[in-house]
Amino acid sequence: MRVLGASVRAGWLALLACACSAKVERTPIPVELPCEIQTILAQNCQSCHGTSPQFGAPMPLVTHADLMATSKTDPTRKVYEAVPERISSLGSPMPPVPYARLGAIDVATLKSWVAKGAPKGECASVAQVPDAGTIKTANCEATLDVVPSSKWTMPQTTADEYVCYGVDITRAQKEHIVGIYPKLDNTKIVHHMILFQGSTAYAATPTPCKSAASVDWRMVGAWAPGTQSIELPAEAGFPVEGTSHFIVQVHYSNLGRVADQADGSGFSFCTTPKLRPYDADVFAFGTTQIQIPARATRDLSCDYTVPQGMNGLHLFAALPHMHQLGKSIQTTLHPKGGGSSIDLGTQPAWSFDSQVWFPLNGTIQEGDTVTTRCVWENSTERGVRFGERTSDEMCYSFTMYYPRVTAPLWTWALPSSDVKCTQK
Ligand code: HEC
Repeated sequence: MRVLGASVRAGWLALLACACSAKVERTPIPVELPCEIQTILAQNCQSCHGTSPQFGAPMPLVTHADLMATSKTDPTRKVYEAVPERISSLGSPMPPVPYARLGAIDVATLKSWVAKGAPKGECASVAQVPDAGTIKTANCEATLDVVPSSKWTMPQTTADEYVCYGVDITRAQKEHIVGIYPKLDNTKIVHHMILFQGSTAYAATPTPCKSAASVDWRMVGAWAPGTQSIELPAEAGFPVEGTSHFIVQVHYSNLGRVADQADGSGFSFCTTPKLRPYDADVFAFGTTQIQIPARATRDLSCDYTVPQGMNGLHLFAALPHMHQLGKSIQTTLHPKGGGSSIDLGTQPAWSFDSQVWFPLNGTIQEGDTVTTRCVWENSTERGVRFGERTSDEMCYSFTMYYPRVTAPLWTWALPSSDVKCTQK
């Protein structure tokens, strides 16, 4: 089994998928930055903070003037003054997860330049700002779009909005979904997207979401800049048969207060009538036994013993999920016979805005223990429990697997309801 570490993450990111509808400036732009600063920004920041900012980034980071501009979110300071804090931030780092963090040398270079008051430099003008590349549509052909019935229009005065819409897919004959891709429309304001499957239909017109996620929804897809599309292992596919209900949740960010932005982003599926040997599915490790007192920290560790009915399941991707108070989440497999434990998905610095699938390649056996550890910091004056509102909390590690469990009383939430939890 592959343990998720820096190298695996780097490999995942090497196949980087980003959208590009950016208008690329062709006229040379005077940069007026020291070359080492220009290089760091070009390599790590400008795919979002380009001349035409993407994915909700509020400002460009291309020229000296860009860095001297007033911050859009905090008018008491300049953009460059916000840089040191964000490049070292654990909770909301720049660049955001899943991008690799800046190296120590780059952090030191930026910080010492900022400490000197961010002086001008003489790096040559750049002819154009690198764009974010195109979505890698890889090996499977997108055959089905899961997009809204009409576009969502972002009010210029709204900085942040979570918008939901539903898409029903009806198939008389069973088919397999073998790939899930983001289908991006207006990359200026789309920050990230999540795809759920539910048991009932949801309104097709995009409107602000009623809740963070219904407890009936399980996550089947997610996209944030820098994450890859999901392709299923060659022997498995997600079945669609009869009518399936999907819900897309899009986070729009418009901190730059850009006017007249409409968007119809969603997902594309690769489907095939040529069924693969196994049906794949998603279940969740974790717990619903969440109670966090007001102004308290909770460090909860929950064990699930793999039952006979889950013996031999292959796990191929994991998506850790919490809400706004989450600090970290980690799921670990402890094999029954002893031996070293295996990482089944870790977000050491949880952020609601960076929910991404991590690739896995492992098998679970009857008697193995799966431990999910969730840490929250409740800074509010009220106790918080498990629930679907944004102000409630969750501790789920959605896990893609095959072959699909078909036992009569099985539900995707079972591995997270039959757990023994201890508080650290
Ligand atoms: C994947 C896209 C992306 C990349 C890459 C990225 N950023 Fe950002 N950045 C954003 C978004 C979106 C926001 C607004 C939301 C937020 O503040 O988290 C932001 C906000 C910021 C802010 C806060 C601005 C303010 O006035 O509040 C700073 C500073 C910043 N980024 C610096 C950087 C630097 C420096 C890099 C490279 C080392 C970088 N970013 C790379 C997307 C990105």
